[in-house]
Amino acid sequence: MNIIFYSPTRARSQQWEHHLKAQGLQFNAQHWDTETTPSGDGEADYAIVWQPPEQLFQHHTRVKAVFNVGAGADAILKLRSLPDHVSIVRLDDEEIGNKMAEYVLYMVARITRSMDCYTMAKANNDWAPAPYAHFSDWPIGLMGLGKIGQQIAGMLSSLGYPTNGWARSPRDLNGINCYHGADQFVDFLEASRIVINVLPLTDETTGILNTQTFSHMPRGSYIINIGRGEHLDETALLPALDQGQLAGAVLDVFRQEPLPESHPFWSDARIHITPHISGATNLALAMKQIAAKIAALHVGQTISGIVNRRTGY
Ligand code: GLV
Repeated sequence: MNIIFYSPTRARSQQWEHHLKAQGLQFNAQHWDTETTPSGDGEADYAIVWQPPEQLFQHHTRVKAVFNVGAGADAILKLRSLPDHVSIVRLDDEEIGNKMAEYVLYMVARITRSMDCYTMAKANNDWAPAPYAHFSDWPIGLMGLGKIGQQIAGMLSSLGYPTNGWARSPRDLNGINCYHGADQFVDFLEASRIVINVLPLTDETTGILNTQTFSHMPRGSYIINIGRGEHLDETALLPALDQGQLAGAVLDVFRQEPLPESHPFWSDARIHITPHISGATNLALAMKQIAAKIAALHVGQTISGIVNRRTGY
C-alpha cells in the first residue's frame, strides 16, 4: 500500500511516518511539503495530511481516504480537487479534547480569579487578595458541543461553573444547559459571561464572533477562541474592548498564522495570545489511531471519525 504524507515541513511528516511504522503497518511512503515537489512514484492509496494544497489530490487521484492530523478538517473540506467519494477522517482521540480542557481551565481561572493582578502585585511586594469569585458568579458558554466541546463543558460543569452549551441541533447533556440553532443563540449569549468557541469552521460559522454576538453577552464579558481564526471578525474585537462590552479576549487561533509581527492584537494588554497550541496533537497516539483505521479500511471495515461533507464536521 502507498501512503502520501503532506505536512508544511518534511521533518514533521517524517516523524509521522516513523510513528506509523512503529505500529507495524507495512507501506511505501512518499512525502510532499512546501519545500519539495512530489517524486511521482506510484499513486497513493491513503493520504495523511495537515493543510494540504489543491495539487496533492490532482496528482494522487486514487486516494481512498485522507487522514487529517488534527481535529478540524476545514483545510481539507475547502479543496475543490478532492472527489466526493474520498473519506475525510479527523482525529478523535481523548487527548486533544482533554488538552483543550486544560487550556480552558487555566484561562478561565486567570479570568475569574483575577490571577493577573497577583503578577502585578508581586512586582510591588504587595499582598493584595482579590475579592473571592464563586463559581456561580461565572456562567460559561461553549459554542460547539461535539466531542471536544463536550469534554470542555463536562470539565467546567464538574467543577461547579454554571455551564451553557450551544450547538446547531438539540443536545441533551448531563449538567449542561443546552441551547441550539439560530433561535436560541441570543438566549445562550445573554446567559454566558465567558464564551468559548470550539465550533467547526464552516460557511455558517465564519465570522460568528462579531459585533452583534458580543452585543448580546453581558457587559464586561470575555471570549476564548480556540476554534479557528476565521470564526472571529477581527475588526469587531478592538471596538468591543474599547467600549467595555468585552473586558478581554483569549485567542489561540488567528486568520493569519503566525500572527504578523505588526498586528495590533500583540500590543493590547486585554488580549491574551497563544500560538495555536491549545490542543496539540500527540503524534504517537494520532498515528496509532490512524494505523488502526487504515488497517480496518484495508479489509473493508467501517471506521469512526469520518467527516460529514454536508455539515463540515
Ligand atoms: C488543530 O487546530 C486541530 O484542528 O487539531
